[in-house]
Amino acid sequence: MLIDIKEAIKLLKKSQIVAIPTETVYGLAGNAEDEVAVEKIYQAKNRPTDNPLICHCFSLIQIRKYIINEPIYLETLANSFSPGPITFLLNIPTTSSLLPSTRGSYSAAFRIPDHPAASELLRSLPFPLAAPSANTSGEPSPTDSKMVENDLGGKIAGIIEGGQCQIGLESTIIDCRNNDKIIILRPGAIGKDELEELLCKSNFSSIQVIENYEKKSNKLGKNQIKNTNQTEVTPGSKYKHYSPNTSITSINSVNQIKKYLDKFKIENQMTIIITSTEKIDKSYQNINWINLGSQNNLPQIAKTLYLNLRKVDTYKQKQAFFLNFKYDKNTTLGKALRDKLSKIL
Ligand code: TXA
Ligand code: MG
Repeated sequence: MLIDIKEAIKLLKKSQIVAIPTETVYGLAGNAEDEVAVEKIYQAKNRPTDNPLICHCFSLIQIRKYIINEPIYLETLANSFSPGPITFLLNIPTTSSLLPSTRGSYSAAFRIPDHPAASELLRSLPFPLAAPSANTSGEPSPTDSKMVENDLGGKIAGIIEGGQCQIGLESTIIDCRNNDKIIILRPGAIGKDELEELLCKSNFSSIQVIENYEKKSNKLGKNQIKNTNQTEVTPGSKYKHYSPNTSITSINSVNQIKKYLDKFKIENQMTIIITSTEKIDKSYQNINWINLGSQNNLPQIAKTLYLNLRKVDTYKQKQAFFLNFKYDKNTTLGKALRDKLSKIL
């Protein structure tokens, strides 16, 4: 159900949860200080309860009310990149009112989203909004209101319409708990290059920027936990993400699946291939192509990636294929895309 901002304010003040647009993906928002609202978020998403939630604020001034040991570079980063697709992991006191959202951790993740509706909402509320992506755990994040409605429609108090998300991939998460280094825990639209450039310009060139996220594939079942120690900084990284229900196999050429093509024809199944515009070859018959967009336009691919991944499931087939295509994996967005794709293949 679509609701306006006024209605959302009323609902959020009464411990209800509503989906909100941001520039990255839609979030499922509730009062970050309220155990009841936070519990509703976990229920609606079927999210593992040890996985903490990002707290959304409207300004650095608001964030400062909650943190301790502010790193020397935070103001510089926030002035440049916030509002925007970056999340700061910061220290909070043991008595923090945000403990329901951090799941008891004394570190909280803060983000100032860059979307007029989210900004207006946050400015009107006396508390930050805890907001994970507005999808059932393990599903691709929603980048328009319809995706939210189809997935969580019956389980939440409402959705604020905010159009298609501008970026389409989740925010970059950086660990800002040290004065001498910044650790990138999740890649997104702001990366090492942008951070280093700013630090250099701002006389912080001695601060190291370290990329520390998983680059390998991790094929896991929904909500299944990786066999790794439990002390990971970003608890969410141990769960499977961004994944359609259809099994997706990576291939380098259509010839590689010739045997499937014949089998599928006999079984009357569809062959689905997800790839870039450049790789689509209509001379093959009986193939349903899902076009991710041009490999030379990564912002466009990012924007509609999750929508395209959900399309795969609408065909209700057991198997689909991902035909590899070339793109620059060393740019900030290239790294973020590679990270997301590695998690579905
Ligand atoms: O772009 C985004 O960041 C979106 C929009 C809605 O803001 N939100 C989002 O939230 O992607 P979510 O919950 O889907 O992913 C947040 C990640 C999770 O992997 C979680 O483990 C991690 O951030 N995280 C949140 N709070 C944390 C904390 N206090 N300590 C460590 N990791 C945290
Ligand atoms: Mg998520």
